Amino acid sequence: MKITEYIDEVRGLTAQARAEGRRVALVPTMGYLHEGHLSLVRAARESVSGVGAARESISGVGAEADNRVFVVMSIFVNPLQFGPQEDFEKYPRDLARDQLMAASAGVDLLFVPSVEEMYPSGPSLTLIQVAEVSEGLCGAARPGHFTGVATVVAKLLLICQPDEAFFGQKDYQQLMVIRQMAMDLCIPTRIVSVPILREKDGLAMSSRNVYLSPEYRLQAPVLYEALCRGADAVLSGETDYDTICALVRDCIAGSAAQVEYVEIRDREDWKRPERLHQKVVILLAARLGETRLIDNILVGDRGERI
Ligand code: PAJ
Repeated sequence: MKITEYIDEVRGLTAQARAEGRRVALVPTMGYLHEGHLSLVRAARESVSGVGAARESISGVGAEADNRVFVVMSIFVNPLQFGPQEDFEKYPRDLARDQLMAASAGVDLLFVPSVEEMYPSGPSLTLIQVAEVSEGLCGAARPGHFTGVATVVAKLLLICQPDEAFFGQKDYQQLMVIRQMAMDLCIPTRIVSVPILREKDGLAMSSRNVYLSPEYRLQAPVLYEALCRGADAVLSGETDYDTICALVRDCIAGSAAQVEYVEIRDREDWKRPERLHQKVVILLAARLGETRLIDNILVGDRGERI
């Protein structure tokens, strides 16, 4: 695995990979890697492997990695997407550990730019604002957050010019924002979504989980339990928006978690559905002490929870 801080080097190495007939896949992260991030790398490898022998050859990624794909992972704690009162300074960072994890998951190039490399003239004067999808939910609680995300992701896509870029469903609204941006700006990269990876007790993996005290960590799975209750009720035929949101909130009410929002959206067009149907996503944000956690559940159209 190569590692670089420089945009020019990323351009050179991705151009070379393309010239060798390899596909370029991008996995943008803010580091402090966990299995959820690594599942994006695996999805990136598998996206080109198709079926059969190639799939076997990638099952033990790393040394045996399928060389038809060139996987670039970026690690950049993007100041533009943090509000002034948020955790930019104390966001967890451990590059030595990340490097080992990325290499063993089969990353080919790790891009770890400095803030100066990404924003050479100070705060970016060009911002990408994605209307509507960025509004409400996390967009309401974190003004400017999705503009920061869309701007940095656009830059990363322009730097790497990947065939595919991989994002987790864990940040569902972010995924919708990036999809909309890529469509509106005619960015030719395919935006691929990857299911949420969870701890054994259901808590969605997140770099921010390290902030949780042992006591809050024990309570944190209540968020997923509540989402499952909501999804089950939709699957059982409940169609009323407020009833489902109240059910989810009630499930959390007995815990120490403070709900910021519980909302339901059509999982494709991101509209707030009048009557619930089985192609919705239930989303929530809650605080456990100082730690803000988000999670969501897709209610499958074949009756499954995802
Ligand atoms: P970060 O929080 O580091 O997440 C990087 C990617 O990993 C995102 O696409 C996120 O959805 C995905 N991810 C996080 N936890 C996951 C889990 N438990 N299961 C599956 N995927 C998971 O999201 C960001 O960074 C930033 O906003 C970024 C897109 C890099 C722009 O700065």
